Amino acid sequence: MHYKKLSFIIISIFAMSAFAEDYIDSRIDDLLTKMTLEEKIGQMTQYNGFWDATGPMPSEGENKNKLDQLKRGLVGSVLNVSGTKQVKEFQDIAVKQTRLGIPLIFGLDVIHGQKTIFPIPLGETSSWDLEVMERSARDAAIEASAMGINWTFAPMMDVSIDPRWGRVMEGAGEDPYLGAKVAVARIQGFQGKDLSRSDTIAACAKHFAGYGFVTAGRDYNTVDIGTYTLYNTVLPPFKASVAVGVKTVMNAFNTLNGTPSTASAFLQRDILKGQWGFQGVVVSDWASGREMIEHGTAKNLKEVAEQSLKAGSDMDMESYAYNRNLAELVTEKKVDESLINDSVRRILKLKFELGLFDNPYKYINEKREKSALYNKKHIDDSLDAARKSIVLLKNSNGILPLSKKIKNVAVIGSLANDKNSPLGSWRMASDDNTAVSLIEGMSRYTNEFKYEQGVRLVDGKESFFAPLVFNQTDRSGFDAAKKLAKSADVVVMMLGEHGFQTGEGRSQANLGFPGLQQELLEEIYSVNPNIVLLVSSGRPLVLDWADKHLSTIVQTWQLGSQSGHAIAQVLFGDYNPSGKLPMSFPRSVGQLPMTYRHFATGRPGPNVDVFWSHYTDESNDPLYPFGYGLSYTTFEYSKLIINKTANNKISVSAEITNTGTREGEEVVQLYLHDKFASFIRPVKELKGFKKIQLKVGQSLNVKFELSDEELGFYNPEGKFLVEPGEFDVMVGTSSVSGISGSFSI
Ligand code: GLC
Repeated sequence: MHYKKLSFIIISIFAMSAFAEDYIDSRIDDLLTKMTLEEKIGQMTQYNGFWDATGPMPSEGENKNKLDQLKRGLVGSVLNVSGTKQVKEFQDIAVKQTRLGIPLIFGLDVIHGQKTIFPIPLGETSSWDLEVMERSARDAAIEASAMGINWTFAPMMDVSIDPRWGRVMEGAGEDPYLGAKVAVARIQGFQGKDLSRSDTIAACAKHFAGYGFVTAGRDYNTVDIGTYTLYNTVLPPFKASVAVGVKTVMNAFNTLNGTPSTASAFLQRDILKGQWGFQGVVVSDWASGREMIEHGTAKNLKEVAEQSLKAGSDMDMESYAYNRNLAELVTEKKVDESLINDSVRRILKLKFELGLFDNPYKYINEKREKSALYNKKHIDDSLDAARKSIVLLKNSNGILPLSKKIKNVAVIGSLANDKNSPLGSWRMASDDNTAVSLIEGMSRYTNEFKYEQGVRLVDGKESFFAPLVFNQTDRSGFDAAKKLAKSADVVVMMLGEHGFQTGEGRSQANLGFPGLQQELLEEIYSVNPNIVLLVSSGRPLVLDWADKHLSTIVQTWQLGSQSGHAIAQVLFGDYNPSGKLPMSFPRSVGQLPMTYRHFATGRPGPNVDVFWSHYTDESNDPLYPFGYGLSYTTFEYSKLIINKTANNKISVSAEITNTGTREGEEVVQLYLHDKFASFIRPVKELKGFKKIQLKVGQSLNVKFELSDEELGFYNPEGKFLVEPGEFDVMVGTSSVSGISGSFSI
C-alpha cells in the first residue's frame, strides 16, 4: 500500500480516537452541568446487589434504602448482580425512573471464569503461557458480558512470598516480572482491543497496594514494607497494567507505612494518578473505607469520606461513606466539589467508553446469554489451560506416564471424586459440582481402576463464606483403601486442599495436608509405596514427607471445569507436562516468607561456625524452587552467548536441545544478578522467559534482549536507576538450574 495512503489511514485513526475522546469529554462536561451534587455523589457509590432473596424488590431495611436511592438516581454501580434478567431490572430503574437516566455499571469478581471455569490464577500462571492466560480472560469476558457484567474485579496482581496467605491462589505468585506480564495478558483478555464491544469488559488492577505482604501471611493483617520493596516488588505489575490501559484500579484493605490504602494519597494521587497518569476509576475494596474506623485513622464515616476522597478513591464500595457525608463536607467547605467532579468524570467516562450511554442494554441479550455460556470453545480452552498448568515435581522411577493398557490401578482420596474443589473458591457465577473429577477423567482412558475415598476431607457446609470443618476423627475408610492399594500395581492418590480452603479469609499457619490425609498417605505407603501423588491445592503446600518417600509427585492446583480430563491427559501421556512453579514450595512453614529473589545479606554463608544467615534446624532452600517443573523428556542448555547490540542493549542467547525421548515444551528462563549497585540487589531476578516446543533431538537458539528496563531498578524514592557494573546472567530451566555467564555495562 502506498505510504501516503498508509500514513493518511494512521493519521485518520489517531484523529478519530482523539475526536472520540473529545466527544466523550464534551458529553461528560454537558452532563456534569446538569447533575446535582447529590447525583454526582451517587455516581461514586457502588452497592452490593440488594434484591431480597424472597423477591425482587426489598420491602424494608438497608436494602429498601438502597432501592430508594437507586430510584432517585443516587447509585452509580452495583456488584454481585449477574444474569440478564436481574441486570435489566436494575438498569430499567436507573435509566427509566431517574431524572437523568444515567446507566449503572455492573461489577463482579470474574477471577478465573464466569460459568466455564479456568485454572485458579496461580495455577494458570504455572503455564507461563501468556497467550493462554489472555485467552482464558477473553473467554471469561465473553461469558460474563453475556450475563450483563461490564466490569470485573480482576486481575489480582498482589505479589506474595508467603503461601500462608490464602489469597496467593488469586495472583501470579512471587515474582514481579512474571506478575507484570501475566497481569497485562489478563487485562488484554478482559478488555480486548475495543471496550465498546458488548463482549469486552473493564478490568481492575487490584489490590493497590502491598496486600500480598500481610505480616505472617495472615489476611487483612498489617503490611510493613519499605518503599524499596514497594517500588521494586509490589508496584511493577500495577505500573505495567496502567501502561497497557487498565480501566480501573481497586485499592486495598491493608495499611501501608501507617496509612490505610484507601486513604493513601501517596499511593493513589502521587503515584497512580500523578506519576503514572492513570485516568481511570479507583474503586475501594469492600467497605475498606469504613474499615479506617477499625484501623483508627477515622472516627466516623464522615472522616472516612473526607480522607478517602482527598486520597483519590473515586468510588465507595459498600462503606456508605460517600452517599451519606460528601454533600455535607462540600457545604462545610471541608472538601472541594472539584474533587467530586474529577471522580465523577472518571466514572462517567468509563460508562461512555463501555458504550453504556449509547445503549444501556447492550450487555442484556438473552439469546447471547444462552449461546455464550459453557460454549465448546471455552470448554476446550479451559482443558488446554488446565493441562498446561500442571507441574511435574518428581518422577524419579519413571512411573509416569502410565500405559493406557495398565490394569489394576487403585485411585484413592476424596479429592479424586470431588467435582467442586477443582473450581477453586473465587467462582461467584459458576455452577456447583460442574468440574470433571479425576475419576471421570481417568474413565475416558480406562475402566481398569477401582476407587476408594480412603478418608472424607470435610464435614458440614462447604461455602465461600463459612469456615470449613475438616474430618479429624473418622478413619473408617482406611481399611478398604489399604486393601485396595495392597493388591494394586499402581496407586494414584489425589490429596490436598478443599476448593474453599484458599482465597479470601483463608490464611493458615500450617501447610501440610489437612484432615487425616497425611495419615492415610502413610498408611497406604506402608502397604504399597508405588504411589503417584497428585497434589490439588490453591497454594504451595509443605510436601517434605512425600518428597522423602515417594518417587512421583504432580502439582495439579485447582484446574477448573476440565480438571479431570487435563490430569488424565498428563497421567496417560497424551500431554507432556510443561508447567513451572510461579511460587517457591517451602520445606517447612518456619522458612516463610521465602523467595528466590532474596538478598545476599552480610552473611550469606555457609560458614563452619554458626555466625551466618541460616537456621540450625532447616535448610534455607525451598523444597521446590521458583521456575521449577519437570517434563517427560529432558532438555539440555548450551552455547550461552552474550553480546552488546548496535542499539546498546545486551543480547543473551542459548541453545536448548530436546535430549529425551518425546516432544515437549520448555520454559526457558533468564535470570540476572546485578553484582554491585548503590542499593542491595537480589541474588537473582527473572528478567525474561520464552516457552518453546521441541521435537526429539531438535535444538533451538533462544535469544533475549536486555534493555534498561531489565537492567535497572528503583531507589527507595522511586527513581529508576541504571548503573554501570557487572551482571551475572543465567539461562535455564528453573531459578536454580542453567548455564551462566557475565557481562558489564
Ligand atoms: C472482596 C475482595 C476484593 C473483591 C471485592 C468485591 O472483599 O477483597 O478482591 O473484588 O471484595 O467482591
